[in-house]
Amino acid sequence: MSKELIRLRDLCMAFDDELVLDHINLYINDSEFLTLLGPSGCGKTTTLRIIGGFTTPTSGDVTFDGVRINDVPSHKRQINTVFQKYALFPHLDVFENIAFGLRIPKTDPESRRKVKLPESEIQERVLEMLKVVNLKGFEKRAVSSLSGGQQQRVAIARALALSPDILCFDEPTSALDPELKRIQQAMGITFIYVTHDQEEALAMSDTVVVMDEGKIQQIGTPEDIYNEPKNAFVADFIGESNIIDGIMRADGVVEIFNRRFQCVDVVIRPEDVDIVPEGQGQLKGTVTSVTFKGMQYDIIVDFKGFKWLIQTTDHCPEGARIGIKIDPDGIHVMKKSAYSGMFGDYSSFSEEYDELDDATLSSDEEESGDEE
Ligand SMILES: Nc1ncnc2c1ncn2[C@@H]1O[C@H](COP(=O)(O)OP(=O)(O)OP(=O)(O)O)[C@@H](O)[C@H]1O
Ligand SMILES: [Mg+2]
Repeated sequence: MSKELIRLRDLCMAFDDELVLDHINLYINDSEFLTLLGPSGCGKTTTLRIIGGFTTPTSGDVTFDGVRINDVPSHKRQINTVFQKYALFPHLDVFENIAFGLRIPKTDPESRRKVKLPESEIQERVLEMLKVVNLKGFEKRAVSSLSGGQQQRVAIARALALSPDILCFDEPTSALDPELKRIQQAMGITFIYVTHDQEEALAMSDTVVVMDEGKIQQIGTPEDIYNEPKNAFVADFIGESNIIDGIMRADGVVEIFNRRFQCVDVVIRPEDVDIVPEGQGQLKGTVTSVTFKGMQYDIIVDFKGFKWLIQTTDHCPEGARIGIKIDPDGIHVMKKSAYSGMFGDYSSFSEEYDELDDATLSSDEEESGDEE
């Protein structure tokens, strides 16, 4: 598998004087499902447009199979893009939409003459693509009669019909997660997917590239990104976290709620916290909110005024005093970064808590948790 197809080397993009891509370095392998993930304006679409050949970078290189392609126009790249607005032809039926690119005569590399694909081959290819996207029997349908998700699958079939090496997606509007992964595996080609939805990214990708402010924050498998976030931005953006300012007491020993030695951020995922009777807890606090989420309860617990999000299958009523225990594996330590201190206390990003805040703050203050 892992043959390198695309490499972005020190890629920068500036609009006017504003740097929107800041030294992006990334390689993408053959048959990989890679997702660019990050908040609005972080540079995902710009990166995808440079790969697709729609935008020329200000500096840096794009290579395909080791060859620099900065100056190769988009229609000469083995890369197709499924745009957010699928741009289907409304006057053509499903079959003709998918056949469109196949009907355009291609230059034969040997004779240099334009050749048309025989009708029988077009027919075979279109029906094969309809099968891949699960739209068998839809060939005569008007595209206007299709649902959004079906239209999107026609757009994917149209792009796949031309046998690209890479298919790019910029935030498709219909959620296709299991379908898209299946299609990618069936075709065995590289997918580059852009989204700001972390759940989608974690579910489908082999590799996730987390971006913010034109920079890559972390590249890794979904598991790496979730379990070992490199900085507070990634920890906060991926899943929910309790990010705490802490002290490294010694190698592998961290003290929180106190500052003495080298400072670190400590991330504790809500599902890694065990609730125990108050007396047995490493920390003790008061439950200030309980939300039933189907698989678990999301509870917010106040420890010394710091609000933690904890996910538990045990029901703890609001107002209960509880203890918590955290397995050493559940504590992830990160070095200080530009993002340190920007995230943390659950109340800073919880509307749910904001509503609750007014009602409960005064009673919480005096009984906030003691450390043992
Ligand atoms: N043609 C352009 N001229 C000027 N600025 C641009 C241009 N295209 C993009 N930008 C700016 O570059 C930055 C990155 O834009 P980009 O479209 O890549 O973000 P994005 O990550 O795709 O965001 P979103 O999730 O909102 O689609 C933004 O600040 C945007 O305003
Ligand atoms: Mg975008």
